[in-house]
Amino acid sequence: MNMPIRPRRLRGSSGLRCMVRETRVDKSSLIYPLFVREGKGIREEISAMPGQYRYSLDTLPEKLNRLADAGVGSVMLFGIPDRKDPVGSGAYDDDGIVQRAVRVVKREAPELLCITDVCMCEYTDHGHCGVLCDHGVDNDATLPLLTRAAVSHARAGADMVAPSDMMDGRVAAIRAGLDAAGFENTPIMSYAVKYSSAFYGPFREAAGSAPRFGDRKGYQMDFHNAREGVREALLDEAEGADIIMVKPAMTYLDLVTRVRDAVHVPVATYSVSGEYAMVKAAAAQGWIDETSVMCEMAVAAYRAGAQIYLTYFAEELAKCMDEGRIG
Ligand code: PBG
Repeated sequence: MNMPIRPRRLRGSSGLRCMVRETRVDKSSLIYPLFVREGKGIREEISAMPGQYRYSLDTLPEKLNRLADAGVGSVMLFGIPDRKDPVGSGAYDDDGIVQRAVRVVKREAPELLCITDVCMCEYTDHGHCGVLCDHGVDNDATLPLLTRAAVSHARAGADMVAPSDMMDGRVAAIRAGLDAAGFENTPIMSYAVKYSSAFYGPFREAAGSAPRFGDRKGYQMDFHNAREGVREALLDEAEGADIIMVKPAMTYLDLVTRVRDAVHVPVATYSVSGEYAMVKAAAAQGWIDETSVMCEMAVAAYRAGAQIYLTYFAEELAKCMDEGRIG
């Protein structure tokens, strides 16, 4: 048949397929979210996230070493404090759980980049991402607390801070606070485009951070909106964000592409707890192949335009990259 154009020609062998790959992935771009808690000898599984654990500081090194050996680039630390209060003071305690965990990461696995999640919801007794006023979460009163948290993380040795609270103006506030404290070279990865999402369900169980009343719709984004996401990304870039994140990942890849086209900083996307839980649950039933689905989700995020990928599957993905399943 006379058919000069045959796309199948370039699919004829694995060598050819590999040569013409449009999306290349790399272990150094993987970030593994890690939950740290008070106590000793603790490694407790999170029920809605099989294979994910809360670690006390003494059980953390083993996991850190495994991640580093696998070649995962970074960890993102989430703290689970013993005590909570209305103003989330554990978030900016120099001796708080995250601050101590940062020191463990830097000592035990200095090759890992240590990023910290900056938010109030794990530390407030009401579970909201800021301090309260009579009509909800008080944006401007929360900014100094987030700034204090970020500076204390930097002082503990964090390589990067990642505000996830969605208060307006927090990137500018944190940038100014870091600079004033002598941390002008500590980058900010902003959860700039963060939707109010039911996919965070398992995380809130893991971190004990579900709001006691109401929801987060007054500060996290409405999932009907995409142009607003671009606006959030541009604002945070202008405020000095060094990396822009879109979250969740799988159901927001349109935003990854749009944001990638709009900003001039690297773009990250976070495959959140609910995405992980769905894969695990379906795989446990034998309904999907876990490794294949995990790989496909990851490559889709990079293909959409992310340069950085946060995932609870980071260690397994690193192995798949080594084995050439994706790459
Ligand atoms: C803290 C925070 C959340 C997640 C990351 N940082 C929870 C939330 O906003 O309710 C979710 C991560 C996940 O679901 O894996 N604000």
